[in-house]
Amino acid sequence: MAAADIIRAPLAAHKGDYGYDAPYALLGFAAAALVSIMLFVAGMRLHERTLIRIGAIYGAVFLLFTISFWYTTRRGKFVQWARVLADVGLRGDERVLDLGCGRGAVLMMVARCLTSGRATGIDIWKTIDQSGSSAARCRQNAAREGVADRITLATADMRAQPFAAGSVDFVVSSLAIHNIRLAADRAQALAEAVLVLAPGGRLAIADIKHTRSYAKELSRLGMLDVTRRSLGWRFWYGNPIAATWLVTARKP
Ligand SMILES: C[S@@+](CC[C@H](N)C(=O)[O-])C[C@H]1O[C@@H](n2cnc3c(N)ncnc32)[C@H](O)[C@@H]1O
Repeated sequence: MAAADIIRAPLAAHKGDYGYDAPYALLGFAAAALVSIMLFVAGMRLHERTLIRIGAIYGAVFLLFTISFWYTTRRGKFVQWARVLADVGLRGDERVLDLGCGRGAVLMMVARCLTSGRATGIDIWKTIDQSGSSAARCRQNAAREGVADRITLATADMRAQPFAAGSVDFVVSSLAIHNIRLAADRAQALAEAVLVLAPGGRLAIADIKHTRSYAKELSRLGMLDVTRRSLGWRFWYGNPIAATWLVTARKP
């Protein structure tokens, strides 16, 4: 195992229960796979070639989508975020803010990189976006991961954050900003993120949609070293159309 992987593996391993992202989308894929397999079976019984073909093709496609989605939400996103955090190389004394922390998948990994620093998660706890998203579940996960002493949680909308300007060293956000429906509101969330960052502070946003416009908006807001890259198949929510991209930037 390469040295970098030895560092990353324990970071991606977790003891908490982080639920399922977009649970209804996952259920939709699973239901479509099931219906297609039932069509295939019916076709076999009735000796109907068209039904067999349709059932087999759609069954295979939706089964793959379901497996990919399940893998990403339960494992892949942890592996890829561990890599991102290893690349960022936190010192351990940073003040970190996670926008839309949910049950704390990324928040806890960040907290495990901290020594004297503090990781704060904000969320409005929408269970349609993540199954069981709640402050109580997030706190429970912090205890299971042994990082409760480094975590603060707040119920807050990322479009109107309660934190002082320049009070954060590193902002992270995973699969959360796209849940804001209006482009102007997503831009507002980014402006708030930039505002709370201290000079020299960094930002890492992973999302499945709108990442090009995040990069553009961050540049417009004066952020430096803005980059955007794919996080690969491990972070596909079912298929490459729902691939996750990472946007990073630094405040001057
Ligand atoms: C798919 S979950 C991702 C949770 C976590 N970041 C992760 O990767 O496991 C999206 C989260 O964003 C939260 N969220 C959606 N809109 C938000 C907003 N305007 N402000 C704060 N949190 C928000 C939801 O409540 C949900 O917990």
